[in-house]
Amino acid sequence: MQFSSKLPHVGTTIFTTMSKMAADYNAINLSQGFPNFPIDPILEEIVRSKTGENVHQYAPLSGLPNLLEKISEMIFNQYNRKIDPSSSLLVTAGATQAIFTTIQALVHKNEEVIILDPSYDCYESPVILAGATPIRIPINKDFLPDWDKIRSSVSDKTRLIITNNPHNPSGTVWKKKDILELEKLVLDFPNLVVLSDEVYEFISFENKHISVNSSEILKDRSVIVSSFGKTFHITGWKIGYVVAPEFLMKEIKKVHQFLVFCVNSLAQASLAEYMNHIDVSTLGRFYQEKRDAFREQLKNSRFELLPCEGTYFQLGSYVNVSDESDVYFAKRLVIEHGVATIPLSVFNANGDDRKILRFCFAKDDKTIQQATEKLCKI
Ligand SMILES: Cc1ncc(COP(=O)(O)O)c(C=O)c1O
Repeated sequence: MQFSSKLPHVGTTIFTTMSKMAADYNAINLSQGFPNFPIDPILEEIVRSKTGENVHQYAPLSGLPNLLEKISEMIFNQYNRKIDPSSSLLVTAGATQAIFTTIQALVHKNEEVIILDPSYDCYESPVILAGATPIRIPINKDFLPDWDKIRSSVSDKTRLIITNNPHNPSGTVWKKKDILELEKLVLDFPNLVVLSDEVYEFISFENKHISVNSSEILKDRSVIVSSFGKTFHITGWKIGYVVAPEFLMKEIKKVHQFLVFCVNSLAQASLAEYMNHIDVSTLGRFYQEKRDAFREQLKNSRFELLPCEGTYFQLGSYVNVSDESDVYFAKRLVIEHGVATIPLSVFNANGDDRKILRFCFAKDDKTIQQATEKLCKI
């Protein structure tokens, strides 16, 4: 049979490789971004009790009405944005499905999509599968967007710009100036849509996250994606949501209908109830304590820590330790020192290697302590 891959460049990701290496070498896994502490016992109890209720059949396409209500309430409380849950909200199987679905729904063959590097790995392939061209633009050395470069890359063919704020892998949070630049850009290019990946929307520290939800100009031009996996420490549930103006959401729902139709009903029912019990605005403080502990404990190490304003990722430069490539160094770190991380270069289309590793600090105190002890010995 003659057969060619639609994604010939895609192989095993570094996340899979590093997590497998961590298991094989019994190393502490600070590579993939997932918490290793238990979920909130309140949520655990709610799930237990919900299993006894009649919540086990297909949910409505957009999501359970009471969950949609809770999400729209949260968006209003956090960003002062009123949305109509029936026309502008969609519950998805995680942010990954939300991003894939949005790209398939909105991007046509031969159009272009701007991706800002370093970037999370689920943006490019859906663009290629849509028959469009990913345009990967490096951001500045401080991990904030290079607006001149972006502006000069937008053309009549550009349908989408994918932004990610707070930013994985750098932990950078945009300044007000960046939001203003994005506003100017959409005003200058009337056919440009923003796909705003805000999965870490509630994890920012001193420099507070400004959501696209709070911009009068951007909110009608943007598809905003978030993840309950990040917000409620349940990455394995794969559940998130999309906020979009009705004219875009109509198209997104068409694809969603044939991709998953609807999302896990038990998870939706449980989260709708759980959202009565928690305040998402406390999440920043929770992770700030972890960030501070991680940084404090690495104070005397040879790693140079970069600023971390949000997400649960800390970047560290090892220029004082080695001049090996970051991929090689990260692998050696697992084998010889028992700590798994992610090399930053894998997030760049051009493989730019600044001798920086990404550490995930969404870990319990003991894990952070054990990992930092090992890292301090290098
Ligand atoms: C920036 C970013 N976007 C999207 C996702 C995917 O989120 P989900 O697990 O909800 O699909 C992640 C997960 O790590 C992420 O870091």
